[in-house]
Amino acid sequence: MDSIESRITVKRLHPLFVAEVTGIDLKLPLSRADFRVIWEAFNEHQVLVFRDQHFDDDSQIAFCRHFGELETMIAHPGNDWNPGHISVMTNLGKDGNFLPADHPAMVHRARNEDWHSDSSFKPVAALASMLAARIVPPVGGNTDLASARAAWADLPAERQAALEGLTALHRMTLRDAANDKGYKEEDKQRHVVTHPLVRANPVNGRKALYVGAHAQEIVGMPPEEGARLIEELTVHCTQPQYVYSHHWRDGDAVLWDNRCTLHRATPFETAKYKRKLHRTTIAGKSPDSAFANVPGA
Ligand code: OGA
Ligand code: MN
Repeated sequence: MDSIESRITVKRLHPLFVAEVTGIDLKLPLSRADFRVIWEAFNEHQVLVFRDQHFDDDSQIAFCRHFGELETMIAHPGNDWNPGHISVMTNLGKDGNFLPADHPAMVHRARNEDWHSDSSFKPVAALASMLAARIVPPVGGNTDLASARAAWADLPAERQAALEGLTALHRMTLRDAANDKGYKEEDKQRHVVTHPLVRANPVNGRKALYVGAHAQEIVGMPPEEGARLIEELTVHCTQPQYVYSHHWRDGDAVLWDNRCTLHRATPFETAKYKRKLHRTTIAGKSPDSAFANVPGA
């Protein structure tokens, strides 16, 4: 057994971010040396792709726990209203048959087609999410990921200076609330928080824009003006040069850093192809975040 050096290899998949990690079976116990390689790669590359892992829920949870506490989800259609550590992204019912397009789980799935960062509406926002394949469609249904770090780095210095220090208000509910039906009123009210618009990675200091669909206002700005600024920055972050589109293969697992990437689901033929991915979310540690002090917001 090789306990001193890691046999893991890390290969970049995109000019700006995303690496594929090979040479390790993540279902087996992980050595400290191996975890260190993965942790460093995660901070450096923002998104890690692992092929041929074929996780089940227990092994996915066990691997993700190396990064920290797992989030317990809010009750929503993706977990069948049973909050736990696993969210299921699927177009299939319990019987394995296709769900109708108006089923709450399908409506919930469609929300994910907006660029977002997972759990940015929580007071302590997520560190990372892992989405792992159970059933993948042959075409479509990619997960797109965008580097909000590369997008930040490309902004002119004066623009960066104007944005730094701003605070955004994030809501669990989307601006177009039509597909927020079914969430508990209490959850909607509770999940209104603020976060800095620009966040630095505590390991390497690299900064990123923290925007996406849940970010909806800028504190101290008229709501529409703040919304326009957030929309402009989200569009900036998700330009093609900052985007990696992950085509799912059987056995895949993708881990992304929610602090510095945005992601979205993409469409596929939901009445023709089956798709089932299980997500675990690793909780963050955000001393810079707090509940928003906005009554009724
Ligand atoms: C998620 C998500 C995208 C997808 O699980 O958080 O946004 O492609 N999923 O299913
Ligand atoms: Mn998501």
